[in-house]
Amino acid sequence: MKYLIANWKANKTLSEATSWIDSFLAQYTPVQRKDIHIIVCPSFPYLSVAAEKLKNIKNVSVGAQDVSPYDDGPHTGEVNARILSSIAQYVIIGHSERRREKGETEEMIEQKVLQSKKYRLEPILCVRNSEDVIYDVNFVAYEPVAAIGSGQNEKPEEVIAMKAQLNLKPGCKYIYGGSVNAANCNTYTKHDAIDGLLVGSASLDPKLFSEIIKNV
Ligand code: PGA
Repeated sequence: MKYLIANWKANKTLSEATSWIDSFLAQYTPVQRKDIHIIVCPSFPYLSVAAEKLKNIKNVSVGAQDVSPYDDGPHTGEVNARILSSIAQYVIIGHSERRREKGETEEMIEQKVLQSKKYRLEPILCVRNSEDVIYDVNFVAYEPVAAIGSGQNEKPEEVIAMKAQLNLKPGCKYIYGGSVNAANCNTYTKHDAIDGLLVGSASLDPKLFSEIIKNV
């Protein structure tokens, strides 16, 4: 099984999000793949729309792009794991953009992982290199900062070499992210060592994302 994660980041209006899902479904439904699991990660406001539209589609799940480190309570503006667990199955935690722009610390990231596990939301932990802490999760996404959004995807051999340095627990899924596109996706997923891809820019257009699915 290969995991393909569409990380829309801070993009799309409601109508753009809806038409992405409709267009994706038109292309995906006829060819539903048993060997691929797709995780669509829209912004918070569209999670329930995505969950509703994708609920009966095999091997397609919905993920959030972040989660609060806090539980229920007086935390205005926070979206916590208990709330998300009623709509999403996965959550991206510790993305380098949040570590940089929001000053996310390891302490916050650990709380986010713990909260997610408490409410059975599957964390996808993003790490930039072997210095970031690997918490006890089932999915680790290695995303070298220089490769994100730059067109400079890291070589598959380097991605595989990094896996050895990360000391993942047995069975932990290893995902790569950073300028993945339809042309290079298979150079990663053809290796048993790489369980999937976290796709940013190339996931914004449903046709491009469907090309990736086809090529994996
Ligand atoms: P990118 O982003 O595919 O645009 O490089 C990947 C990510 O940040 O998850």
